[in-house]
Formats: sequence, C-alpha cells, structure tokens
Amino acid sequence: MKYRMLGRTELQVSEIGFGGWGIGKNWWGETEDAESLRALQKAQDLGINFFDTAYVYGDGHSERLIAQAFRSAKKRAYIATKVPPKNMQWPADHRSSLQATFPPEWIISCTERSLKNLHTDCIELQQLHVWSDRWLQDPLWQKVLEAVERLKSQGKIRFFGISINDHEPETALEAVRGGFVDTVQVIFNLFEQTPRRKLFSQCLQNRVGILARVPLDEGGLSGKLTPESRFEEEDFRSRYFAGERLKETCRRAEALKKVLAANGSQNLAQAALRFCLSFCAVSTVLAGTRRVPHVEENASVSDGRYLDGSQLEELEGHAWPRNFYR
Ligand SMILES: NC(=O)c1ccc[n+]([C@@H]2O[C@H](COP(=O)([O-])OP(=O)(O)OC[C@H]3O[C@@H](n4cnc5c(N)ncnc54)[C@H](OP(=O)(O)O)[C@@H]3O)[C@@H](O)[C@H]2O)c1
Repeated sequence: MKYRMLGRTELQVSEIGFGGWGIGKNWWGETEDAESLRALQKAQDLGINFFDTAYVYGDGHSERLIAQAFRSAKKRAYIATKVPPKNMQWPADHRSSLQATFPPEWIISCTERSLKNLHTDCIELQQLHVWSDRWLQDPLWQKVLEAVERLKSQGKIRFFGISINDHEPETALEAVRGGFVDTVQVIFNLFEQTPRRKLFSQCLQNRVGILARVPLDEGGLSGKLTPESRFEEEDFRSRYFAGERLKETCRRAEALKKVLAANGSQNLAQAALRFCLSFCAVSTVLAGTRRVPHVEENASVSDGRYLDGSQLEELEGHAWPRNFYR
C-alpha cells in the first residue's frame, strides 16, 4: 500500500481508502455484519488506514461497526465521519440556509453522537455531509466556524472537511479558496471527470486534501453488472440503475473495458481505481465495499503504477455527464 499526504493535515493516508456506506446496511440490500467486519479487518491488514463513514449510514451502524472492528487494533486507523444536514436533504438545495442545514449546535450534538458511536475521544476528520458555497455568505457562517474551532480546541475533532453535492464539484471552489476546509470529498470516476476541470488545481494550490468518492459509480464501473442485473426494492441501486440507465451504463462500461484491456488492466474495477489514483490531487480513493475479495482486489491497485498523460486524455472521451442521484 502506498500513502499520500492528505492536504495540509500532514496525515499520511493510504491511496485506497475504505468507503463505509454499504456496511451501514440500510441502502444496499442484504449485508452481513460478520462479512463487513472481516472486510474491515482485511483492509487494515493490507495497509488501508483511512475509513470513511457517516452517521446516516444506518443511523450510526457503520460507525459502530468500524469501532467494533478496531477496538483492539494495534495499527492506527484514521476515521472520517459526517454531520448530516439537519433538514436531511440530499443533495443540498443551494437556496437553503445554514439554520436549516448546519446550525452550530447541530454540528456539535451530531459530533458528540458520532464520538459515542465510534467509541473514541477524537474524530480525525469531521465533514459536513452536503455543501453549498452560498453558505459562506450566510450570517450564521461565522458561528459555524467558531463551533468547528471549539470542537478542534476541545480535541473532539482534528480536521474539518465538506462532502460536495453530487456532480457539482464547482460549488465548493470558494470554500477551498477561502481556506475554510482541510479536505473535500467529491464524486470522481471514469464517468464523472468534472473535478479535473477546476477543483483539482484549486485543491493543490490551497493544500486541501481530496477524498475521491464513488470511484466505481455505485457498481456501474465494477465490471460485474449486466443489463439483466436486478436489485432488491429497498436497495437504492434499484432506482439509481432504473429504466434504461442500467443498459446504457453497461454499454459504456463494455466500451471502457476494451480501452483499458489494451492498457494492461486486469479488470474494470481495478482500472477504475487506478484511473482515480493517476491524479496527484487525489489523496485517497474511497472504494465502497463489504467483502474481503473486493478489499483484496482494491488494495492491490496501490502498486505505484499510474496511467500516463495520453491514456488519461483518451479516457476523458469516456466521461458521461449525468446525475442518477436526482
Ligand atoms: N454524499 C457523500 O458524502 C457520499 C455519497 C456516496 C458515497 N460516499 C462515500 O464514498 C464511498 C464509496 O462510494 P460507494 O460505496 O457509494 O460506491 P462505489 O465505491 O462507487 O461502489 C461500491 C460498489 O462497488 C462494489 N465493489 C467494490 N470493490 C469491487 C471490486 N473490486 N470488484 C467489483 N465490485 C466492487 C461494491 O460491492 P460490495 O459492497 O459487494 O463489496 C459496491 O457494490 C462510500 O462508501 C462512502 O464512504 C459519500
């Protein structure tokens, strides 16, 4: 496993991080805690030291499972969690106010709740689960910053970041430029390449760490889906890949497989992760998984081999602007 500096935090984080949404259980169909725990343990054994979770991933279930997995761990694990917006609205409506989304007392009480779930005195990275740059003009913004500073000075959190709205990477450029955040979390994958346009250079200039999320397009880039794949009704992918979306996703994934095979990739999932790692602005790639074999495949991508400029240029042509989350 190779490690990269997480922006100005000076934390050395593993190139492959662990995405903890699926292990929260409530959105991803049948999920076995025992297997999730084995996957967490395997991740740590293979050098993964960065774990992303959120209170809403199973109302604390993902956080509690991570705490359980690392209770007696000897190695250091960096855990990032998130404060949900008080109005529980995803993605954030840019017209909403901080009073409705992240009033200071809400940030504090949610942090206390996550500290309990994680069985820890200090959260390495606390993030706001949605973001809008318009909040920098909100009269409450100063109070939000004061609350964050208080949590830092009390030792309850070490660093502060934001998770950018789905497919809107340019709605956080002001927060990055203003030096308000240590990290941003953004959708970045072979289909969603918009962060290459402005966000990456802004983050490099301001030493803001980037957590690349949804690197496998929720499975669209896993290489395992076919037009016949079906999901349980409560599994969010039954909506994400509804109607013609699944067929179109598979068609585009097949086209990518051909290009990537010519570049020597073993399978699409690994190539998709390698693509994300080929950008030095990316600090860690949050691969979401609940299974040991997937953890093994994903961790093995961090071998120091990256795609070159001409390969990245060719892959730019496979970007696919859309927003299945709406
Ligand atoms: N708004 C936000 O802040 C936000 C939103 C979404 C995600 N995130 C974060 O980003 C993380 C990653 O995103 P995600 O989990 O939604 O999606 P993802 O990483 O794009 O895809 C997860 C899917 O890929 C499968 N997978 C993983 N490794 C694989 C491999 N080697 N081969 C084949 N399939 C593989 C997983 O299967 P198994 O589960 O069966 O292993 C799961 O079905 C999340 O877990 C979460 O931490 C944050």
